[in-house]
Amino acid sequence: MSTARLFFDPRLPIGPVNRRVFGSFVEHLGRAVYDGIYEPGHPSADERGFRTDVMELVTELGVSAVRYPGGNFVSGFRWEDSVGPRDERPTRLDLAWHSTESNQIGLHEFASWLESVGSELMLAVNLGTRGTLEALDLLEYSNRESGSALADRRIANGRTEAFDVRMWCLGNEMDGPWQLGHRSADDYGKLAAQTARAMRMFDPALEVVVCGSSSRHMPTFGEWERVVLSHSYDDVDYISCHAYYEEKNGDLGSFLASAVDMDAFIESVVATIDHVRAVKGSDHVVNISFDEWNVWYNDRFENVDKITGAQNWPVAPRLLEDSYSVADAVVVGNLLISLLKRADRVTSASLAQLVNVIAPIMTEPGGIAWRQTTFFPFALTSALAAGSALATRVESDSYDTETYGRVPVVDAVTTFDEATGRTSVFVVNRSQTETVSLAFDLTGLGAVTDARAQTLTDDDAYAANTLADPERVAMRPNDTLALTDAAGSIDLPPVSWTVITLQTAP
Ligand code: AHR
Repeated sequence: MSTARLFFDPRLPIGPVNRRVFGSFVEHLGRAVYDGIYEPGHPSADERGFRTDVMELVTELGVSAVRYPGGNFVSGFRWEDSVGPRDERPTRLDLAWHSTESNQIGLHEFASWLESVGSELMLAVNLGTRGTLEALDLLEYSNRESGSALADRRIANGRTEAFDVRMWCLGNEMDGPWQLGHRSADDYGKLAAQTARAMRMFDPALEVVVCGSSSRHMPTFGEWERVVLSHSYDDVDYISCHAYYEEKNGDLGSFLASAVDMDAFIESVVATIDHVRAVKGSDHVVNISFDEWNVWYNDRFENVDKITGAQNWPVAPRLLEDSYSVADAVVVGNLLISLLKRADRVTSASLAQLVNVIAPIMTEPGGIAWRQTTFFPFALTSALAAGSALATRVESDSYDTETYGRVPVVDAVTTFDEATGRTSVFVVNRSQTETVSLAFDLTGLGAVTDARAQTLTDDDAYAANTLADPERVAMRPNDTLALTDAAGSIDLPPVSWTVITLQTAP
């Protein structure tokens, strides 16, 4: 057994925990929408055709906001196709995913679903194959109350109240050569700035997200952010980051340290934002919307699932349906720790995605819906991280990885909610072999009246929840938690994610 020590203090906040950090993402891709959230023939479907078993799981997951409708899909999307009488909506080819889109679910239906699960709508506009005017049209249709052609069209389509969407993404992954309408940073930066300015002529309070890099490993990373922000800095509130991780070539040690990459990504983007701000002499602060992040076995998509063939345009195919292991969930929990460690600058984030497509929730047509392993760290972090993220110092052993060099075995972040008196410690043990005995200092807290811990772990790091065995993996109480007046300790099993909650007087 190795040892580690943790220090935190409620007097040293990093920044408020923004609920928007617990956002997710639903794209018209695979079975995310059709045969995912929407399955009219399913026994649990409500009168709108939405699966209520899925809605219950989404609510339990604690998703604050949902980015929609893409993703790569949005760069070929005509929003007008997806509103109005359903029997008049056109069927289109979705070039991004080589699929057929029926448009049976669109803005109205999705907004209605979000209202049922209590999440905010975050809309992406198409800046790949469309431009400023179409973005303005969608904005008028969505947010103008009445008295203009598009607001009145929305009302005629059955929605009297405006959708009042606050967060708008200016396209998707425009740095990626795979993107329909992919552009240079210079071209995109100008278009994004022009579109943001125009949208804000309608409503100056809109929160606008400009596209950053689709990975820290893109050849244009860094320069893309600098150039795009040099055009758009004062017109936007966020720049996006996207990051997906997967275990490659059986290298579990590197994979478990994926959050090291996310930490470096965030630090570099913050530095670039602040560089542009300094050059411009601006008082405005741009933050990060980490609006796609997760574990994604992209190799499997590229080599097995990818759809090709001129005549092959399936409806709602099984795409990106990764089955997640305990190790994957530990990485997801660790990525959430990274987001919270920069709560001062990462003020919005979206787990990509929500149902069936690289998702914490899976469904079987006509059958059950179940929680993947990754469901648990997300749901518990969303439920228990509140108030402020605290500066959290970890002293632990380290280990060598092929990808990231030497990395700490333990990573953690703490949040403290003054209103409820609750401190939550989120911690991972990345060791594949050793339990870590973690000691933590309690001197900054008042008297702890209740303390508990739950751990996600398994003797088999590759154990997963599946259709055949949907409850194989679950959170377990960690009974090794021990407290004295000034300190606490807990054993963290190998490859584990743990949350400790400490209750003091509010
Ligand atoms: O989430 C799946 C895809 O990953 C999204 O469509 C795209 O934005 C990213 O490359």
